[in-house]
Amino acid sequence: MSDDRAMASTLVEVWTSVVPHRQQAWEALSASELARLQALRLPMDRQRFVTGCLLLRTALSRKLEMPAAVVPIDRTCPDCGGQHGKPTIPGTSLEVSISHSGIIVMVGVSEGLPVGVDIEQTIRFREMTKHANRVLSDREQAVMNRKAARAHPAFIARNWVRKEAITKAAGVGLRIPLNHITVTRAHLGSRLEVDCARHSAIPRGIALRDIRSPRGYVASLAVFTGGPLRVRVLSAATVRRWGEAR
Ligand SMILES: CC(C)(COP(=O)(O)OP(=O)(O)OC[C@H]1O[C@@H](n2cnc3c(N)ncnc32)[C@H](O)[C@@H]1OP(=O)(O)O)[C@@H](O)C(=O)NCCC(=O)NCCS
Ligand SMILES: [Zn+2]
Repeated sequence: MSDDRAMASTLVEVWTSVVPHRQQAWEALSASELARLQALRLPMDRQRFVTGCLLLRTALSRKLEMPAAVVPIDRTCPDCGGQHGKPTIPGTSLEVSISHSGIIVMVGVSEGLPVGVDIEQTIRFREMTKHANRVLSDREQAVMNRKAARAHPAFIARNWVRKEAITKAAGVGLRIPLNHITVTRAHLGSRLEVDCARHSAIPRGIALRDIRSPRGYVASLAVFTGGPLRVRVLSAATVRRWGEAR
């Protein structure tokens, strides 16, 4: 294989959707998804959850060329066996990740490479400058401190979503303290470098992309690969019915 082919870039899809205000169709949800839905009390939590299920099923039904309702999704939590863990797609090499915040839901889909997405509302970070050391490593705090104070909340928010996306790609989530991970710009060019020697779940080769989001939100995608990456962002403006993306 030529070097060019060996370095062929990996295509990762990022799907986004706005949580609809109208009643959503639940036909496509599995029994375990319906059981999780029943346990959620707050209407927004319910809508975010259903939108995440429908968006994931919509994205996968296109890839697998099967109806959304029959896409196999396993969310078994490795700790307790409950159906609230990182989703896996049995019988395929697809890797996926879900995130929701406010009225936005995001799903990442990759073929064979661990993927993590995270979206957050920036308003959450307004008061977080006092606790920046819980999110940022010493090196990152030094970078932040060279910026004007008014830029600090946005800096923390950006680093939060990058690093939470990394921990979600690893399948461990916030069990790894975010301040154990350092994300820096490479000296040359705009490539992001990730350093986390303390946790073996976090590899050295990670591709990170910031995903353009609506005003008031920040989002990032992490893919465990040392190679080049292409990202296709798809918008399912409103996912109301299974398999229907507009
Ligand atoms: C995973 C985690 C980072 C999600 O954080 P969040 O900011 O609240 O939520 P997000 O909207 O970004 O992500 C939620 C999605 O993460 C996914 N997820 C759950 N556990 C995950 C894990 N260990 N790794 C990656 N993704 C995970 C789920 O798909 C979930 O979507 P769903 O609720 O629609 O099923 C957070 O819950 C966490 O750190 N969990 C630690 C692991 C844990 O406590 N497990 C329970 C043991 S009983
Ligand atoms: Zn669990």
